[in-house]
Amino acid sequence: MTDDVATAIWSPALRGTIEVSGDKSMSHRALILGALAKGTTRISGLLEGQDVLATAAAVRAFGARAERLGPSEWRVTGASWRSPAAPVDCGNSGTGVRLLIGAAAGFDLAAVFTGDRSLAGRPMNRVLAPLRSMGADFEASEGGRLPVRLRGGRLGGIHFRNDKASAQVKSAILLAGLQSDAAVEVLEMAPSRDHSENMLRAFGCDLDVEETPDGRLVRLGRRRSLTATTLEIPGDPSSAAFPLVAALVSPGSDVTLRSVLVNPLRAGLFTTLAEMGADLSVLAARHLSGEAVADIAVRSSPLRGVEVPAERAPSMIDEYPILAIAAAFAKGRTVMHGLGELRVKESDRLAAVLAGLAACGVEARDDGDSLIVEGLGGPPPGGAKVAAHDDHRIAMSFLVMGLASEHPVSVDSAGMIGTSFPGFATIMGSIGARIA
Ligand code: S3P
Repeated sequence: MTDDVATAIWSPALRGTIEVSGDKSMSHRALILGALAKGTTRISGLLEGQDVLATAAAVRAFGARAERLGPSEWRVTGASWRSPAAPVDCGNSGTGVRLLIGAAAGFDLAAVFTGDRSLAGRPMNRVLAPLRSMGADFEASEGGRLPVRLRGGRLGGIHFRNDKASAQVKSAILLAGLQSDAAVEVLEMAPSRDHSENMLRAFGCDLDVEETPDGRLVRLGRRRSLTATTLEIPGDPSSAAFPLVAALVSPGSDVTLRSVLVNPLRAGLFTTLAEMGADLSVLAARHLSGEAVADIAVRSSPLRGVEVPAERAPSMIDEYPILAIAAAFAKGRTVMHGLGELRVKESDRLAAVLAGLAACGVEARDDGDSLIVEGLGGPPPGGAKVAAHDDHRIAMSFLVMGLASEHPVSVDSAGMIGTSFPGFATIMGSIGARIA
């Protein structure tokens, strides 16, 4: 646990227009696809959080050029990947390491992947198993953990059923398949975020997506070489979630979030908050680099408890901690189903949320893969120091609670917020949130 503590205190009437940093999923993919493409890709709006910077360092280690031209402005020149001179340290990022393992697997190279303490505890077999079946060779630490040693090479095909609805697993397979000419197919019963598909197309790759009776079938086509392009990355809805919920629960608030990614496969939190009675308006809908983008206006609203179906989980998997905070302020019970994957994120998020809510005076429990929060219909007591377990989203969620609870809320591991939302406290401060 890092003990850099941040504290949030009562901050009514949040007001203003803000822009959150670039989408994390798209930022990792932009760097990796740029590093595989022929030519030089220009990226604007890149998230410059620690996770994505680790991916930038990784693609350089594989032989690509990744240069920062100015704030969030990058240029990446692709290469045929070669063995890195040292272990590739992916920091805190599950997306970074799983996508990089996939992208590297089809090259004739050897590499070792490592990460921080949290990442070293996370399961890698979900990507190693399908990639092994395509022909890649891996040695992993006990239980399929990092460090992972890859011996890459010529890959065959795969037909993979993505039972966990994991976009990271799907993406690792598609990226590995770029170096193969065999059939590469991923079938999804529940569709996961499709940024890899959208961005592969933007780089000129042939890719088919077909709705079949068994689910959504994603298939690489014949042309799999990538050509450099220009990308503009919109704001991350998973980061926008924090000021958005803060504005809902802090009385007298009126906040607009500019240029947020609203891809339907990422929009489960917006749907759920609307069902809870949130006053949200989606304005100026448009497209940016093949993705749906809009401005979102939000005003404080009395919320009511709802039941969130398991099928919605893939479209809001990173948003349950902040939804649990909204649920604590809502009137009545909120039940969220299908949260098994939360136990293997940057921390065991189900356990961390339950402990944090209890510390802040909110009744909650788990029941199998469901989380049940008894909403207070008003501000919770707060007045606790919450253990964030080195998890950026747990830290930001409980700081949001502290902005509108009766007593301040502190979190440890506040330095980890920079993995996904650099400038969080400053941006929140610009709308009147008091976070020190
Ligand atoms: C991501 C996929 C999700 C999500 C993660 C980002 C991605 O993970 O939790 O933060 O960019 O592909 P899973 O693929 O494990 O569901």
